[in-house]
Amino acid sequence: MTSAEDLRATVADQLTRARARSAALTDAVDDDDLVRQHSKLMSPLVWDLAHIGNQEELWLVRDVGGRDPVRSDIDELYDAFKHARAARPELPLLGPGEARGYVREVRDKVFDVLERTPLEGARLLDGAFAFGMIVQHEQQHDETMLATHQLRAGAPVLHAPPPPPGGPVGPPEVLVPGGPFTMGTSTEAWALDNERPAHQVVTAPFLIDTTPVTNGAYTEFIADGGYRDPRWWSPTGWEHVQSAGLTAPRFWSRSGDAWHRRAFGVTAPLDPAQPVVHVCFHEAEAYARWAGKRLPTEVEWEKAARFDPATGRSLRYPWGDDDPTPEHANLGQRHLSPAPVGAYPKGVSPLGVHQLVGDVWEWTSSDFRGYAGFEVFPYAEYSQVFFGGDHKVLRGGSFGTDPVAVRATFRNWDYPIRRQVFAGFRCARDASPEVARGAVEG
Ligand SMILES: [Fe+2]
Repeated sequence: MTSAEDLRATVADQLTRARARSAALTDAVDDDDLVRQHSKLMSPLVWDLAHIGNQEELWLVRDVGGRDPVRSDIDELYDAFKHARAARPELPLLGPGEARGYVREVRDKVFDVLERTPLEGARLLDGAFAFGMIVQHEQQHDETMLATHQLRAGAPVLHAPPPPPGGPVGPPEVLVPGGPFTMGTSTEAWALDNERPAHQVVTAPFLIDTTPVTNGAYTEFIADGGYRDPRWWSPTGWEHVQSAGLTAPRFWSRSGDAWHRRAFGVTAPLDPAQPVVHVCFHEAEAYARWAGKRLPTEVEWEKAARFDPATGRSLRYPWGDDDPTPEHANLGQRHLSPAPVGAYPKGVSPLGVHQLVGDVWEWTSSDFRGYAGFEVFPYAEYSQVFFGGDHKVLRGGSFGTDPVAVRATFRNWDYPIRRQVFAGFRCARDASPEVARGAVEG
C-alpha cells in the first residue's frame, strides 16, 4: 500500500517533471516564436503554457483547494472550447513573461494545497486523482507543444540522443487467440473517464503485425503507386488524398531516388527501420488495404497489448504491470524520433508483439465512443463531447508521450485527416480457420 506521504511525494515529483518539460519546450525559443502561430492547427506556444496554468488553477486551486481565484479574468481566454486554435493568436493573451509568472504563482499555491488536502474521501481526491489528471493534462499539452515544434520552420532548437538500435522481432505477424478478455480499467488510479469501466469483450482470432509499419515498407506502397490508385482508399479517403494533394507522409521529401524526412528542423535520410510517422488515418487505411490487410479495431489493439494467455488476465502494459522504464518503451521525449523496430525487446507483449507502447501513436479503425457503463468524470469536455463518428481512436503513445500520460488502456483520438500527431499504425487481418485452429492447439 502506498502511504499518503508516498502519494504526495509521487504527485510532487510528477508535477515538477511536467513543469520542467513545459519550461524546456517554451524556453527553447524566443518571445517572438512563443507568441507566433506556427500552424493553423496549433495554438501559439504561449497559449498552451497559460492554459496549462489555468486548468491547474481551476481544478487544484479553486475546486480541490477551495481557494480564491488567482486570475478569474482570464478563464475565458484559455477555455479551449471558446476559441478555435486558429483564432487564438488574435486574443489578448498573457505575454511570455506574464504567462510564466502566472503558472509559477498557480504552482506555488498547488504545492500548498497538496500538503493540506487529504487524498481520500471524495472521488476527485481518492488516489490523488485530480492531481493525476492535471499532471496528465500538462504532459498532453507538452506533447502538443512538441508537435508545434515539429511544425515550426527554422533552425533546430531541440536536441536529444538518437534512439537505441533495432533488433530481431521474430515472425512478421502474431496470432491473437479468440475468446474473452478484459478491456478498460476500473482500478487504475489515474485512468481517465473514457478508459473506464473494465468490461469483458469477446474477439474472434486475428493476426496482428509484430511491429508498426516501417518507413521502408511504406516507401514500397508509394513506389507501387499507392497514392494514385483509388482501389486502396475509402471513398472519403480518396476524395481527401486528391483534394489535399497527398503524395507521401508529412515532412517527407525526395531527392533523386532517396527519401528524406525533416524532424525538428533537421532533414536527414529516412531510416527504413523506423516506424512511419505523420500519416493520417486515411493513409494508414489505404496502406493496409494495399498490403492485403486492415487496421486493427481498438478492441484488437488492446487485446494484443494486454492479454496474457498464460493467466487470461489483462496487464497494465504489454510487458506486465510495472511502470514504464527506458528499457521498455520509447516514451517521454528522450529521443526526437521513433526507434527502429526491435529496439525494445523488454517491452514485448506476452504474445510477442513489439512496440505497442511508445514510438508512434497507432491509428485504429474504431470511432471514439464511450464504453458500456461510461460515466462522465469529472467533466464532459474531457472526452464525452468528442464521442461519435467524427474521431478515430489512436493507441499506445509516441516518443513524445510522457509515461504518466499513457497506459495500455489509454485512448487518444483525432480527426481522420490529421497528420501533425506523432502517429503511425500497424496492420491486422482475420485469422483463417486453419490458422486459428493452430492457435487453440498452441
Ligand atoms: Fe487542455
